[in-house]
Amino acid sequence: MTEPILRVEHLSVAFDHPLGKVRAVDDVSFALRPGERFGLAGESGSGKSTMALAILRLIKPPGRIESGTVRLGDRALSELDEEAMRATRLAGIALVPQGSMNSLNPVMRIGEQIADAMRDHGVARSSDHIAGLLQRVGLSPGTERQYPHELSGGMKQRACIAIAISLSPKVIIADEPTSALDVVVQRQVMETLARVQTDLGSAVILVGHDMGLMAQFVDRLGVMYAGRLVETAPIGEIIVTPRHPYTQALIASLPSFGQRGTLIGIPGLAPLLRDLPPGCAFHPRCPKATDRCRMEKPAVRELAPGIHVACHHA
Ligand SMILES: Nc1ncnc2c1ncn2[C@@H]1O[C@H](COP(=O)(O)OP(=O)(O)OP(=O)(O)O)[C@@H](O)[C@H]1O
Ligand SMILES: [Mg+2]
Repeated sequence: MTEPILRVEHLSVAFDHPLGKVRAVDDVSFALRPGERFGLAGESGSGKSTMALAILRLIKPPGRIESGTVRLGDRALSELDEEAMRATRLAGIALVPQGSMNSLNPVMRIGEQIADAMRDHGVARSSDHIAGLLQRVGLSPGTERQYPHELSGGMKQRACIAIAISLSPKVIIADEPTSALDVVVQRQVMETLARVQTDLGSAVILVGHDMGLMAQFVDRLGVMYAGRLVETAPIGEIIVTPRHPYTQALIASLPSFGQRGTLIGIPGLAPLLRDLPPGCAFHPRCPKATDRCRMEKPAVRELAPGIHVACHHA
């Protein structure tokens, strides 16, 4: 068995508010093998982006990492000084942040933006390298001289991927890279991400809530609910035999042609992190809830090799 490239252990992130503390990431652990594609799914507000930022130590006040370690290979990132952490960011772990295609600098040409990101990490600009990166993500060499407003959404997202892979990272975290794109362009961007990832041998964390996209792209899926990773399993396993009632509901809510006219959702609302119910946070919405679920928070258990679930009834 190869050693994991990334190991997240008992990671917790809190936001301090006048009304009280909110734990947006709660004791999350998982590991990624080199080259693996890991999906992170869950409702809006479940803590996916916060976790991505915490892995890179990019949480800003009032947020803070409360506890936990992140290891890239044999290095514990929490022990690096700010300078070493900065050097690790693009070169070791690269993030394509949520909404990044709309955060490209509007007055800077694409080539300059790629060069800028590299310069920030102490790597000098080389125009051959930039042309090569553009080619790798399926953009023409001319894109180097274009401004963001001259590009389509899919092209902008490819430019963001070009920045992310500019220093050949070992891990790429892509936070909802295709949410704002139509399905055809979505597919093309995912194919591009898959291709560059395979070329580089990088591991990928794909953040999103489109289970269909996850099923096509990832090897393993983690499902987040109210800051916790409630189920992790190989994708084939989790789609066919979801074990956590929340995962079951997520998968049951996928529309299919057979159910034309009926839209199945998950009853109830996602809980407010500020005011989480006691016991299992999912119990108010869970068809299997018992008294134990209302009182005792379920620990994450390994039910079978590679299958981790936090549910008293799994
Ligand atoms: N800057 C902040 N200040 C206070 N609380 C925050 C801040 N950022 C995030 N949070 C809290 O963390 C929770 C998780 O947010 P996060 O953005 O990680 O969710 P997400 O799963 O990425 O959602 P989405 O699918 O909408 O992108 C939020 O519900 C909010 O309570
Ligand atoms: Mg998010």
